[in-house]
Amino acid sequence: MIRVAFFDTKAYDRPSFERYGGESDIRFRFLETKLNEDTVELARGCDAVCVFVNDSVNAAVIEKLHEFGIRLVALRSAGYNNVDVHAAFGKVHVVHVPAYSPYAVAEHAIALLLTSVRRIHKAYNRTRDFNFSLNGLTGFDFHGKTVGVIGTGKIGRIFIDICRGFGMKVIAYDLFPAADSGIEYVSLDELLARSDVISLHCPLTDETRHMIGGSAIEKMKKGVVIVNTSRGGLIDAEALLEGIVARKIGAACLDVYEEEADIFFEDRSGHILNDELLSRLISMPNVIVTSHQAFLTEEALNNIAETTVANIRSCFENDGLCDNELCYRCGHIERCKNERREKCF
Ligand code: NAI
Repeated sequence: MIRVAFFDTKAYDRPSFERYGGESDIRFRFLETKLNEDTVELARGCDAVCVFVNDSVNAAVIEKLHEFGIRLVALRSAGYNNVDVHAAFGKVHVVHVPAYSPYAVAEHAIALLLTSVRRIHKAYNRTRDFNFSLNGLTGFDFHGKTVGVIGTGKIGRIFIDICRGFGMKVIAYDLFPAADSGIEYVSLDELLARSDVISLHCPLTDETRHMIGGSAIEKMKKGVVIVNTSRGGLIDAEALLEGIVARKIGAACLDVYEEEADIFFEDRSGHILNDELLSRLISMPNVIVTSHQAFLTEEALNNIAETTVANIRSCFENDGLCDNELCYRCGHIERCKNERREKCF
């Protein structure tokens, strides 16, 4: 029996995980709390921990997991910026779900964009109140506009395909441009200067943190629409607010926020939000915030559960070997699949 401490459990997690793993060789200990230095004790007695985007798997937590004899951190996400993979080296395996539904995220980015540009959220509220006025609801055609896509991996590519369907001109920036993809790659500066819409689909790394800050915003077109369904830390939220107040940024669609960890995923209505910046952003008429919801489709939840359970089994049945293991050692965190020696263990 593999005992798994399942942190940050939400109501929507349990059915899929119970379906794929709960009745078999895996026993989940479902915990509502997030994993951090204060809660790591709850994992004692387990063989693995299963975590999501706002659990904090830092060096101190990893040290404790190692001390408890826990051999595996199984991420229920693709992104792994919340795990200190350097510290994990030689102590604990780290596996993730590389792709569960890139469509879910790309489609959510489009949903935010359409909602914002065509003012659907405002129209919905108005007509519910029998207010049928169109004043202030003018949008713009997507057709013929230039969309700049930062990060052309799984999600970015699907986003690009959808944008092409609208008749948009697509330009992109990626550290590793995809050869023969037919995508027009440009420098980041050129993308910032030419785009009517900018959508972020790259991971959060030391290099990409605050890539959208004051100086990047200065280079953008007036009225630009920014979409972020990737990670909050890609945007300097203070600079974003300044750009909005200065009327430089036309609209912002945010599914993620740098300081989301203690705010998102919970019902905080009736409470005073202890985050002035987020409160101000939400109060802006041209900002839409969703609460890290882009992944949330039936298909994605099933794929997350199926892959995570397979990752856990693979690690315990194959002496730590798992295709979806992240490895710091070789410097190609996700690309060291066949080199057993180059894995964390
Ligand atoms: P992916 O790994 O397939 O693609 C990422 C792309 O970013 C790659 O082409 C890579 O070369 C590029 N890249 C890496 N460093 C870069 C840099 N410094 N500058 C520009 N491009 C760079 O990842 P995928 O599946 O497309 O996911 C993208 C991001 O979406 C994830 O990192 C994650 O943070 C976020 N995400 C958000 C979700 C949500 O619910 N809001 C759900 C799933 C993922």
